[in-house]
Amino acid sequence: MIFAEITYNIIVFYAVALYIGLLLCRPDILDRANRIEDRPLFTLYKEYDFIIVGGGSAGCVIANRLSENPQWTVLLLEAGGEEPVLSEIPLLYPTLQLSSLDWKFQTEFSSTFCLNQNGRSNWPRGKVIGGSSVLNAMLYIRGNRRDYDRWEKLGNEGWSYDDVLPYFKKSEDMKIPELQNSPYHGTGGYLTVESLRYQSKITDSILNAGKEVGYDVTDLNGESQCGFTKTQGTLRDGLRCSTAKAFLRPVKTRKNLHISLYSNVFKLIINNRTKTVVGVQFQKLGLKRIIRARKEVIVCGGSIKSPQILMLSGIGPSDHLLEKGIEPIVHSPGVGKNLQDHVAMGGITFLFDSPLSMKPIGAGVVLPRFFTWYTFISFLKSHEGPIYSLPFCELIAFVNSKYNDNPAWPDIQFIIATGGDNDDGGLFNRRTHGLNKETFDRVFKPILYKDAFTVVPLILRPKSVGRIILRNKNPLSQPLIYPNYFDNPYDIKILIEGAKIAYNLSQTNAMKLYNTTLHAIPFSECEDYEILSDEYWECQARHYTVTIYHPVGTCKMGPDEDEEAVVDPTLRVRGLSNLRVIDASVMPKIISGNTNAPTVMIAEKGADLIKKRWFE
Ligand SMILES: Cc1cc2nc3c(=O)[nH]c(=O)nc-3n(C[C@H](O)[C@H](O)[C@H](O)COP(=O)(O)OP(=O)(O)OC[C@H]3O[C@@H](n4cnc5c(N)ncnc54)[C@H](O)[C@@H]3O)c2cc1C
Ligand SMILES: *[C@@H]1O[C@H](CO)[C@@H](O)[C@H](O)[C@H]1NC(C)=O
Ligand SMILES: *[C@@H]1O[C@H](CO)[C@@H](O)[C@H](O)[C@H]1NC(C)=O
Ligand SMILES: *[C@@H]1O[C@H](CO)[C@@H](O)[C@H](O)[C@H]1NC(C)=O
Repeated sequence: MIFAEITYNIIVFYAVALYIGLLLCRPDILDRANRIEDRPLFTLYKEYDFIIVGGGSAGCVIANRLSENPQWTVLLLEAGGEEPVLSEIPLLYPTLQLSSLDWKFQTEFSSTFCLNQNGRSNWPRGKVIGGSSVLNAMLYIRGNRRDYDRWEKLGNEGWSYDDVLPYFKKSEDMKIPELQNSPYHGTGGYLTVESLRYQSKITDSILNAGKEVGYDVTDLNGESQCGFTKTQGTLRDGLRCSTAKAFLRPVKTRKNLHISLYSNVFKLIINNRTKTVVGVQFQKLGLKRIIRARKEVIVCGGSIKSPQILMLSGIGPSDHLLEKGIEPIVHSPGVGKNLQDHVAMGGITFLFDSPLSMKPIGAGVVLPRFFTWYTFISFLKSHEGPIYSLPFCELIAFVNSKYNDNPAWPDIQFIIATGGDNDDGGLFNRRTHGLNKETFDRVFKPILYKDAFTVVPLILRPKSVGRIILRNKNPLSQPLIYPNYFDNPYDIKILIEGAKIAYNLSQTNAMKLYNTTLHAIPFSECEDYEILSDEYWECQARHYTVTIYHPVGTCKMGPDEDEEAVVDPTLRVRGLSNLRVIDASVMPKIISGNTNAPTVMIAEKGADLIKKRWFE
């Protein structure tokens, strides 16, 4: 049975069937004995040694590491609920966005980017135990050695590559056999790293194409970051390995660790006279509570919520706080500033033919071909097949634009999808990116369900910087997000170069074997430009602007001389005692790669800094 097209009803039907199948046949995924349970409000203590605000990529690591000491009591407060079973399935990755697991942030309207997305970019963030590691695309990428060396040069002692590499390795359990003995990888840690269990046939040709345009196939987390690779994923047995699965499930029986879900922290409780943080105020199931911290509060709310929580507590630019009716306690001008994200050009689609020998599934990912009885059974019974695939990012590359003067520090990343926006019938990609229907109908409908691959080029070290400010002083309101994509014209130039390298990739002999061609129906707003010209690509980037979901930097770390540094190099919030921020928001400069593994690293190191402070 193969569907000619997929509709929303088929997806729902299939997901329900899959869910029932899971309940019956996959106790390994249900993992009933180990899943995190919510601790009821009335059983919480009045005071803990440490309170962690937010159980995301960073918070789960810290909760584990601090509760290693049985003398310390640790409370983890997470606004979201339990990790659902379906989120573990790689193929379902895009369906998690805009669901109840998502905070559903959106950037403020812009008239220079996201033009065919109503001027707004969807910024999903996990609202669930495990945070954005439950929603993310599972790519395991660390960035470049020079990123961390630059952090150190900015005055952050202890954050050079040589300093942080041991922390990357500490958390890692590398399962890819060729890499287990690499000096760059660790084994035996909590976070499992694997290859994708199902890979499309087209991937090998794309790697060959990469070689033809001059790039090696290599471990992009190893000696050299330049080149192409098949995805290394935060996966365990082919399924998502969130930080909740990795770091919390194994320690959930520790008596000194309490995990309270559905607990939305509104603000920190601060003694204004001594400038000491003494606890937090949160709301759970409609009830407000204050719980005190004897030693420290650690804010791990992520790059959007952490600055919001600080500002609501009176820590931030005082003029802005006063304007929103908040009495300032510490003037910290950098809170919410220095927002950096990886932005990409969407829609660079190449059509190809699947050889007859590869029918019926074909060489790429055309979703209706996946929704079959065979795929279903192979997933449930033999733990293999297309349900383990991650079409959106089967391959990763780091390449150099002509503007880059240090080829060892690439300035462009490619996320390579083995399908196109056309191959899911508009159900996933169109929806998550908010691409308007007219554009979809014009550009992608004519090639519905045709084999395609997509190269998504992103700028690794953008020069444009954005900002997060409060909408108002209500903790349930979303802050205002201004990413300022392309404010600096340099950023779009890099994306144009990325598109050209992608085009060259499609013109190789390796890709010609598949009759690869550029899908050349332009966005209607771009049709006056010559196809493949710089103006054409710029137009496309502005009309289909894609976040790679890496906002960082809004509570940046820096030395005392830097007045916009919110935390010091030990991640302590300046101007207050007993408060740290530990999550992606502390990055002073965005790293050249995906941000989950670096956030886990920051948390590993942060936990050690806390232990040192309290003389464990
Ligand atoms: C769709 C998507 C795809 C991505 N793909 C990748 C990828 O493939 N590879 C990669 O490396 N990175 C990827 N990322 C980025 C990566 O997942 C994030 O950088 C990382 O998870 C950030 O970790 P964090 O700890 O800073 O924040 P989060 O993981 O977002 O954790 C913050 C936690 O705090 C909780 N919280 C917030 N406010 C409060 C409050 N007031 N009270 C209580 N709890 C609160 C949240 O609910 C959440 O659980 C992706 C992200 C997204 C959204
Ligand atoms: C905290 O104290 C300062 C003076 O040290 C004062 O200006 C400020 O208004 C106080 N803030 C609050 C929230 O009480
Ligand atoms: C490519 O096109 C040619 C000519 O139309 C055709 O004979 C060949 O089978 C195609 N290749 C594939 C892989 O389908
Ligand atoms: C693409 O290939 C052409 C022909 O080989 C070459 O001249 C050009 O520099 C390449 N473009 C990029 C951006 O690498």
